[in-house]
Amino acid sequence: MKAHKLICNCCNVTVGRIAKAIQEGARSVEEVQAKTKAGTCCGKCRDHLRGVVEALLEEQLEK
Ligand code: FES
Repeated sequence: MKAHKLICNCCNVTVGRIAKAIQEGARSVEEVQAKTKAGTCCGKCRDHLRGVVEALLEEQLEK
């Protein structure tokens, strides 16, 4: 996944920002939302956001 890819247009949250939230300790979509505000406006990105968070969690926690 490209770090600069925008996931949440409303809050301007990229894959890189989500990865950073996970590095800072977020372990669920809700925790990523609390740190980044992703998915807290129109909500249209929520399904996509969940998929990205799950993929990144798997990737980062395997390391
Ligand atoms: S695009 Fe993410 S809340 Fe609107």
